[in-house]
Amino acid sequence: MSFDRSIKIAPSILSADFANFGQEIQAIEAQGCDWVHVDVMDGHFVPNLTFGPPLCAAIRPHIKTVMDVHLMISPVDPYIEAFAEAGADVITAHLEAGPHIHRTLQAIRANGAKAGLAINPGSGIDDVEYLLDMVDLICVMTVNPGFGGQKFIHSQIDKVKKLRAMIGDRPVHIEIDGGITPETAPLMAAAGADVLVAGSAVFKGGSVENPGVYGENIRAIRDAAEGARKAA
Ligand code: DX5
Ligand code: ZN
Repeated sequence: MSFDRSIKIAPSILSADFANFGQEIQAIEAQGCDWVHVDVMDGHFVPNLTFGPPLCAAIRPHIKTVMDVHLMISPVDPYIEAFAEAGADVITAHLEAGPHIHRTLQAIRANGAKAGLAINPGSGIDDVEYLLDMVDLICVMTVNPGFGGQKFIHSQIDKVKKLRAMIGDRPVHIEIDGGITPETAPLMAAAGADVLVAGSAVFKGGSVENPGVYGENIRAIRDAAEGARKAA
């Protein structure tokens, strides 16, 4: 996984057909996505439940790009090894998930994965400053985590601009998660984001029988984001 700041579209399989993850993943990759975003929820840190390491291991052989695992769980540390063994390329933990995020990020890298740090819409970036040299990705949540299909929170644009300046030349991705559409993607691309997670906006209207719609949806988000980059 080499580093660059080109726009990357990461569909969230939270919006895929849960009975058919293998084919859904093959379809979005064939239709041009860059990463595959996997939302892990524990019914405790967030008010929803999804899936754990066995599902990640089961879908891993279908992912040819990057397996981007977003852990919305607390505690995190007892499960890092299992998600790394399941084949996660990136493991992202929340700043808000416990008192020892520094230790969590160390553990993610020690287990051989890229380390991601997610921050909720209500959290500031002061606490990120001393973590910048131990992360590969910062995920700015533009909805409160827990569900797909929520409305983008515009106050996070300013946060991304400040974060981009704070990161400077460090090889750290800025990922945006929640409410990304062809309308909101350009705002974040211009502010400095490079990885755009999109669940409902990628999967809406398509299916494994009709995967071309996934391609159109991915292209619409990418074109809007790249257009904003050029204009910025
Ligand atoms: C929210 C998840 C997101 C979500 C994105 O808790 O982390 O990845 O699935 O879904 P949309 O794009 O529908 O907001
Ligand atoms: Zn997510």
